[in-house]
Amino acid sequence: MFDAQAFVEETVQSLRETIEGKALIACSGGVDSTVAAVLVDKAIGRNLVALHVDTGLMRKNESQHVKQLLEKMGLNLRFVEAGERFFDALKGVVEPEKKRKIIGELFVRIFEEVAEEEGIDTLIQGTIAPDWIESGDQLRDTIKSHHNVGGLPKDLKLKLVEPLRDIYKDEVRAVARELKIPIAEKQPFPGPGLAVRIIGEVTREKTEIVREACHIVEEEIEKAANAGVMELPWQYFAVLLPVKTVGVHGDKRAYGYTVAVRAIDSIDAMSGAYSKIPHEVLDRIATRITNSLGERVTRVVYDITNKPPATIEWE
Ligand code: XMP
Repeated sequence: MFDAQAFVEETVQSLRETIEGKALIACSGGVDSTVAAVLVDKAIGRNLVALHVDTGLMRKNESQHVKQLLEKMGLNLRFVEAGERFFDALKGVVEPEKKRKIIGELFVRIFEEVAEEEGIDTLIQGTIAPDWIESGDQLRDTIKSHHNVGGLPKDLKLKLVEPLRDIYKDEVRAVARELKIPIAEKQPFPGPGLAVRIIGEVTREKTEIVREACHIVEEEIEKAANAGVMELPWQYFAVLLPVKTVGVHGDKRAYGYTVAVRAIDSIDAMSGAYSKIPHEVLDRIATRITNSLGERVTRVVYDITNKPPATIEWE
């Protein structure tokens, strides 16, 4: 049985011994990076700079919420607005692994810039076991390059420290509860953000569509779970497909994109079963998405694939 309290004590002690001088951690606002940040903060205090990068690929109002959370946890925060750089770097890129590598590399470039300004030579990452297992190594196949693993360049100028490398998500959540982090139960959100929920080229317009669709899926599912109509799935979101289909809007023909709704039940993200969401909830999701996105989305479908054979995200 995993002992969160012992994990915290041992990790803080070992971080104190390992980290020399100042360190940088990129905080997405997710459970993993927040837990890693709080552990390192306990070890080295103000010598840790917690950086949040707004990539332009975050969910609705997410960067604002992250800022508030990190301030509440008393972390030494830096905020970088980088949407323009991410959209420019992703222009014309379709292949999922290429997208992940570009995003990972751009993140690292920004980390290096901030580290140089702040005189930092250690980078903390919230990598957990499934991230590096699925990113492949000498013994394993690459399923997908998780941005915090696969995107790191070989000539990374920063020394890497990964305090959560050997634990799984349910254990990270236990540590988060132990540390009184108020987002211990928050659903995971991938490092590359909405970019991997847009199949094909990432554009600002498509990002706006998938951002709104994700917001609706989250709101409706959380409302239904709070009302006791269903259990909250492990993860639930929308994916924008590059497939256009014919629809009717008013009495006019429309030709819009397809949104896929994904909801999955899992324990550790390594495997999962698609959530058996009640039809009335799916109905509300589809109606709200098509109403709110107008002619831009003419069709909503539900993904009924388990993991394996599918992965949770579509890219
Ligand atoms: P997949 O899609 O591989 O996802 O079944 C497993 C879990 O990991 C999340 N995920 C990521 N998390 N960086 C992350 O920190 C990433 O690049 C990344 N890609 C996927 C995914 O949302 C799911 O919870």
